Amino acid sequence: MPLVTTTEMFKKAYEGGYAIGAFNVNNMEIIQGITEAAKAENAPLILQVSAGARKYANHTYLVKLVEAALEETDLPIALHLDHGDTFELCKSCIDGGFTSVMIDGSHLPFEENIKLTKQVVDYAHDHGVVVEGELGRLAGIEDAVNVSEEDASFTNPDEVEEFVERTGVDSLAIAIGTSHGAFKFKGEAKLRFDILEEIGKRLPGFPIVLHGASSVPQEYVEIVNKYGGNMPGAKGVPEDMLRQAASMAVCKINIDSDLRLAMTGTIRQFMAENPGAFDPRQYLGPARDAIRTIVRHKIVNVLGCNNKA
Ligand code: G3H
Ligand code: 13P
Ligand code: ZN
Repeated sequence: MPLVTTTEMFKKAYEGGYAIGAFNVNNMEIIQGITEAAKAENAPLILQVSAGARKYANHTYLVKLVEAALEETDLPIALHLDHGDTFELCKSCIDGGFTSVMIDGSHLPFEENIKLTKQVVDYAHDHGVVVEGELGRLAGIEDAVNVSEEDASFTNPDEVEEFVERTGVDSLAIAIGTSHGAFKFKGEAKLRFDILEEIGKRLPGFPIVLHGASSVPQEYVEIVNKYGGNMPGAKGVPEDMLRQAASMAVCKINIDSDLRLAMTGTIRQFMAENPGAFDPRQYLGPARDAIRTIVRHKIVNVLGCNNKA
């Protein structure tokens, strides 16, 4: 099956009260772990590539690896640009075979965000590609995204209809209290479901995207800390909150940090227990298995998209 856009998968997810997992990919083992999990659970899938991933692994290598996964799995898979920050980057991914792009103008004033997003939508739609926009700002640090807690802000429901109408975006990422990275909440986890509900009412049938949705499993935090890592206080979004969001208007849930944690914890433990190991396959194999296990768990217990391919 060739790559698909997210149109059909979001329509079914919205109607079925579940969400599609959007997992960040950076190399072969990560792509294999995720796609083997989706195959085992017969789940539709979004594989997303950040600007940092593209720089690390090279656009062509990533596209070819995803093409190999399509051949191996025969699943509906969308290839998506995560946090595109310029028209040129989005254009390059559209021209280079992606079926979906995000233009993240969330740091811009409203009118400028609309202008940039619309420019990307016009080009993308002319090429059969769908676009995710963003309103509201998440806190957190990634390669290309660094927003302090003071600069983060919830999405204003009063703005969403105008934004969607004037830009023509196909889905909208919103900020309701999640954040990027492995340190999301200092105290109790809180999400503004009231904002999500209001946005759902203003945009009936329209797919909403939740970024910063890793759960940060404590068993992996403990492994990382036990074997030389330093992540005290790492904390994610409780899985029951993600399930609730998936049953509402959220059709796409972005997960990256949990895969990093699973991979890094597994490799740290393996190297500590096997100090003589020097064949990369010895530790990348178990890391790939850990990714497969965690993604299967997400598909079945968090997203609810098993058997929806
Ligand atoms: O939200 C961003 C993703 O987790 C990708 O992170 O920019 O470090 O590749 P990255
Ligand atoms: P996490 O850092 O919670 O995994 O979020 C990833 C993300 O939003 C990618 O766009
Ligand atoms: Zn994100």
